[in-house]
Amino acid sequence: MSAQQAGEDSPNPAPPRQLKERYDGVAKVTGKAKYAAEFSEPFPRKDLAYAFMVQSTIPSGSLVSIDRSAAERSPGVLAVLTPFNAPKLPVGKPQPPAPRTLSVLQNTDVNYNGQPVAVVVAASLPEAIHAARQLRIKYNQTPPKLDFKGRLGEARWPKQPGKEQPSDTRGNIGISRGKATVHLDCTYTTPIQNHNPMEPHATIAWWEGEKLNVYNSTQYISGDKQSLARIFNIPLDDVHTQCPYTGGGFGSKGSMWSHVPLCAMAAKIVNRPVKLVLERDQMFGPVGQRPTTVNKIQLAATSDGKLMAMQHDVVMHASVMEDFTEHAASPTKSLYASEANLVSEKLVDMNLGVTTFMRAPGEAPGTAVLEVAMDELAEKLKMDPVQLRLASYAEKDPSHDRPWTSKHLTEAYKQAADRFGWSKRSAQPGTVTEGNDFIGYGMATATYPANRSAAQAVVRILPNGRAFAGTGSQDLGTGTYTIVAQTAADALGMDPTLVDARIGDSTLPKAPVSGGSQSAASICPAIREAAMQAKLKLFELAINDPQSPHHGLKTTDLDTRDGKIFQKSRPSHTESIIALMGRNGGKPIEANGSAEPGEDKESYTSHSWGAVFAEVAVDRDTHMVKVRRIVATYDIGSLINNKTGLNQLMGGIVWGVSFALHEETLIDPVYGRTVNESLSEYHVPTNADIGVVDVTVLNIPDTKFNPLGARGIGEIGITGAAAAINNAIYNATGKRIRDYPITPDKIMEAKSSIMEEKSSLA
Ligand code: MOS
Repeated sequence: MSAQQAGEDSPNPAPPRQLKERYDGVAKVTGKAKYAAEFSEPFPRKDLAYAFMVQSTIPSGSLVSIDRSAAERSPGVLAVLTPFNAPKLPVGKPQPPAPRTLSVLQNTDVNYNGQPVAVVVAASLPEAIHAARQLRIKYNQTPPKLDFKGRLGEARWPKQPGKEQPSDTRGNIGISRGKATVHLDCTYTTPIQNHNPMEPHATIAWWEGEKLNVYNSTQYISGDKQSLARIFNIPLDDVHTQCPYTGGGFGSKGSMWSHVPLCAMAAKIVNRPVKLVLERDQMFGPVGQRPTTVNKIQLAATSDGKLMAMQHDVVMHASVMEDFTEHAASPTKSLYASEANLVSEKLVDMNLGVTTFMRAPGEAPGTAVLEVAMDELAEKLKMDPVQLRLASYAEKDPSHDRPWTSKHLTEAYKQAADRFGWSKRSAQPGTVTEGNDFIGYGMATATYPANRSAAQAVVRILPNGRAFAGTGSQDLGTGTYTIVAQTAADALGMDPTLVDARIGDSTLPKAPVSGGSQSAASICPAIREAAMQAKLKLFELAINDPQSPHHGLKTTDLDTRDGKIFQKSRPSHTESIIALMGRNGGKPIEANGSAEPGEDKESYTSHSWGAVFAEVAVDRDTHMVKVRRIVATYDIGSLINNKTGLNQLMGGIVWGVSFALHEETLIDPVYGRTVNESLSEYHVPTNADIGVVDVTVLNIPDTKFNPLGARGIGEIGITGAAAAINNAIYNATGKRIRDYPITPDKIMEAKSSIMEEKSSLA
């Protein structure tokens, strides 16, 4: 951490004692941490049956028949479920909390290639897969909608109320455009992308009478519980969901998809515990994806770089099954203080699986395009890209005309620029070469909203000197366990290694979805509140105990440190918590806590910010891009834990490299199946693709946002990074690629006098 500045927003509280290592680090590297598919209890292991999800092989139409006879005779088969024999669910249309149109064998419609159309359950997975291949499925195919570019003219407004028009967020775009002297009008595209957490979606379900239990890899145990209760029309308390560890989610596990109720349905039919794990290729379609977007961006500025008008019109694809809007125009609404602003978001129906949240939904593609348009505008104005951004710096939220809870983006620009060495950059493309490489430098702004929801927690002080902290949250690999333990320890004045953290069980107090970068900001205040309440109960015990040195004092006279209760006015007067609790029956002291956004949340906007600088090398012959260095500084409020926090930001940046150069889901234009549905063909960066990633945070607490002063950091890292790389590629080559990902063929095809003249192959 290069900066530990005191913020003017609040007195900077003493930073909490951090857990230096991940709470769950040892469990993970020794294999003790169990993921959803790895459980073989509490049921007898031999009872576990295996389900395989069968998918449609046409993109549009309906099922005419499914001949199950051969599959049912196949060895080991316990059940074959299709829309023709599956039990009718009591609720016709499942309505999970995040509305999702599920495919749970209730009708014969086929809406995309890869849609679940049957489930085979067998005593082993190979037997289930073998039997699945023997199903004879007859379809009635109808013409599919698969040509996105050819159907852009059919783009329609989202079906939500209020969304059927452009959102004219401020001013008069025509009048303000008239005041400008420099205009930019460019179109940028981003591809379909699929989340690929290392752990695929996985579920084990078993019934105890009418009670449903599931282990499920998820970002939202209490959401799954609610969804399953609705789908099977059973009392909420009859559903128990558990997920002690999630091997990555990135938004794909924020909603519940078809395989979870299908697994529960199968378990009911065979009356055994059933495991259903998606194959890697099944991750492409049935469990959500980021839509492709086309972005027409029009910027208008005065000659000194003041933005007069910003217009951003997005057209994206949506599944014929369900609307989802990727708010790619969000950054255009609030990142700069333009005089006038107009954005629109429209959908084109496609015979593809449902689109959904993927890391930094909205802001990831939104900054990837807007921040390139800003670079193009800077060039037209012959202005430094940082200066252009400062010329329209939004001191308050221009979209809602209200203050930010905290914003220190100018410091982030400065700190990152200094560390990167931005002042030495030449604005003229193609001026720096090293051997066979053109070297380029680019920058962009990162932004993501700070979200927070109501959360509850329980904390126990134990008679052995340890403590317990629990909340019904989940750890996607982000560090939730670590900060739960650390937050409780900080409030209790304990060493953080003495706290046992428990999450990932729906019997724990309710916590929100681990999405929208909100878990830390939501649950830590609840943990802290529960710990404070437990501490008060502990003080009362001492005060009421005649044998305690603190007998008869007030709770406000006392505090705790390192396993002892001490008097604030006489810190040497202490009593050990173990001794006090031992004299009082040795029972744990337990307290609940809850926290939610304050009543004044409508009078502020909370965002995180960052400045991202990239250095790339572009090979003059192969046109391969190497991202040599990324230097970024973020304004994310207080950083709760250095190791897990900086890791989140770095992981986000790696996603930015992936967005810029690698990731793209390719759809077969005739059959509608994903062509590259494997990790060998769906390209993501490997370690060798990642150069130096150098991250700092300003660490200025945002206590108007929450008592910890900490905003979420799971998503902001991806924002801005792709644009910084894109802008660096332009600075290296003079080639502006407006279509992601920036693959060597696109650089090769783009015309630039610089590169061709200097190519050794020319
Ligand atoms: Mo995140 S894409 O909101 O899980």
